[in-house]
Amino acid sequence: MNYFIETIGCQMNICESDKLGQALSSYGILKVNVLQKADIVILNTCSVRSQAEQKAFSFLGRAEEFKKENLNIKIVVVGCMAERIGHKIKHRFKSVNLIIGAKDIDNAALRIADLCNVSNYSIIESEKASDIIKYITIMRGCDNYCSYCVVPFVRGKEISFNSSDIIEDCRLAVNNGAKEIMLLGQNVNSYKYDDIKFTDLVKNIAKIDGLERVRFMTNHPKDLSNELIDMMATESKVCSHIHLPMQSASNNILLAMNRKYTYGRYLTLIKKLRTAVPDISVTTDIIVGFPGEAEEDFEQTLKAVKEIRFGGLYVFRYSSRPNTRAASMCDDVSLEDKKRRHSIILKESNKISIEIVASMVGTTQQVLAEKIEGGVIEARTGSGRKVFVKCASKKDLGKQLNVNIKEAKINSLFGEII
Ligand code: 5AD
Ligand code: SF4
Repeated sequence: MNYFIETIGCQMNICESDKLGQALSSYGILKVNVLQKADIVILNTCSVRSQAEQKAFSFLGRAEEFKKENLNIKIVVVGCMAERIGHKIKHRFKSVNLIIGAKDIDNAALRIADLCNVSNYSIIESEKASDIIKYITIMRGCDNYCSYCVVPFVRGKEISFNSSDIIEDCRLAVNNGAKEIMLLGQNVNSYKYDDIKFTDLVKNIAKIDGLERVRFMTNHPKDLSNELIDMMATESKVCSHIHLPMQSASNNILLAMNRKYTYGRYLTLIKKLRTAVPDISVTTDIIVGFPGEAEEDFEQTLKAVKEIRFGGLYVFRYSSRPNTRAASMCDDVSLEDKKRRHSIILKESNKISIEIVASMVGTTQQVLAEKIEGGVIEARTGSGRKVFVKCASKKDLGKQLNVNIKEAKINSLFGEII
């Protein structure tokens, strides 16, 4: 049997889809890259913004059409939307066979195999992809209840996974060829398992022989400790990149968002990070049009974007999510204003990105080679920028290369091996 999986949402979802795929392969259910070749169509969903939910509905519309001509296929919906509104999905799309919520994702492969009457366990030993970059989830859920956010409702309370299991998974990944590990969690700073804190976990992972790089995301500014900043400065395998969602730079809005920091405190963190790790790239998330966001509030966020000069940012138009505290506030910023503010932030951020990448031309960057196609290697700097390297060969894959940057475009750099 074959499955096709469509993944919407964050890195954590991509990681969970990956894990589900591996578990399915141990039942002899293998991945195909086109929906038309699949016996099982799986949709991994996201509920963070209403747009992500709309995307899922339109995918299900297409899957349903496909099923009309292929009555035997199974449609499975997993993840956050399945958790939040599984019954509604089932009601609207009668062709959906199985709904598996985010909290039950660990049992998904078993339930899918059951649905398809695949009972003969593993003829095939689970195929282990030799990924150069391995994503590893270290915790699940969130207790922060930012007032706009649906995550605590759909993913549940924060749980940190067993540190020995995580380290073992990392070791296994490195034995299978991984050179970089990305640790994932909604708020990695609050990781704690027995006496092991996040910094302890990272230090232990960094000790693994053969591992070149460690990254992590996401960090919550309210929990970013001096200890973590020190660790970033001293552990050479930890990449010079931090994703630190600011959301807004207006203290009134931050308070209404229940973010538990002020812009002043956020700026202090940035300064500390830049002092400790001079080449650090700070990326962020911003929401425009949160309830009550006046033009002055927005102006403060725009000013902060200019002042901080993020290495990159994601900007979102606020959308009301069910059950959240902000859902009971008046969604009073017009769609036009949300769109205008969104595009102003994006334009400013693009301008800054172009300036940052232009200043990298002529410099030497250490990059990790991830993929090769037609003699061109796709690699990444420690700060997370994509670099295309000409005249490379397959033996360079998985290696750190010193590259001279020759040309820069907004989302990619081009260079040559020194
Ligand atoms: N509306 C718009 N953006 C949101 N985010 C989370 N919830 C909402 C919402 N209701 C954004 C935040 C978060 C990112 C993952 O998604 O910026 O950091
Ligand atoms: Fe949502 Fe806030 Fe938790 Fe992030 S920290 S997942 S924004 S509630």
